[in-house]
Amino acid sequence: MNFHTRKWVKPEDLNPNGTLFGGSLLRWIDEEAAIYAIVQLGNQRVVTKYISEINFVSASRQGDIIELGITATEFGRTSITLTCEVRNKITRKSILTVEKMVFVNLGEDGLPAPHGRTEIKYVKDQFKDDEPHP
Ligand SMILES: CC(C)(COP(=O)(O)OP(=O)(O)OC[C@H]1O[C@@H](n2cnc3c(N)ncnc32)[C@H](O)[C@@H]1OP(=O)(O)O)[C@@H](O)C(=O)NCCC(=O)NCCS
Repeated sequence: MNFHTRKWVKPEDLNPNGTLFGGSLLRWIDEEAAIYAIVQLGNQRVVTKYISEINFVSASRQGDIIELGITATEFGRTSITLTCEVRNKITRKSILTVEKMVFVNLGEDGLPAPHGRTEIKYVKDQFKDDEPHP
């Protein structure tokens, strides 16, 4: 699993108990997973279809640095299934797991469209013709 995005838990991300608010975490995860699906499917018109049970494994606190990990587990005809984990970057302690997130690839008409992808593509291969970043 690749952990791409890091977040620094700040006061505005907390619940009234002083720990990381689940809603903040879910927002970050949904965006991270959507970006992952967009990159994998090569299409910006991708929507969240299904999210399985969410396990809030342990609490995170202000000042923690956490990282969001996503990987594809299945490529369907119009869908892609991902699995997700959030962990503390320093201690590696698990904070949240989502076993299954399904995104659907849409055509211009807004209906599910075949994406033609069957395996994980790595960014270095997808964008290898790009100019190198400075
Ligand atoms: C996404 C949407 C267009 C799919 O419509 P639909 O009628 O369910 O489409 P289909 O039945 O053709 O299913 C499309 C794919 O989703 C999968 N799917 C549908 N329901 C599912 C479910 N409950 N769990 C997992 N996968 C599901 C199907 O297996 C299919 O995948 P495949 O082609 O790889 O086999 C429609 O449900 C929708 O617009 N939902 C709202 C999306 C949204 O607003 N998300 C939040 C904002 S991003």
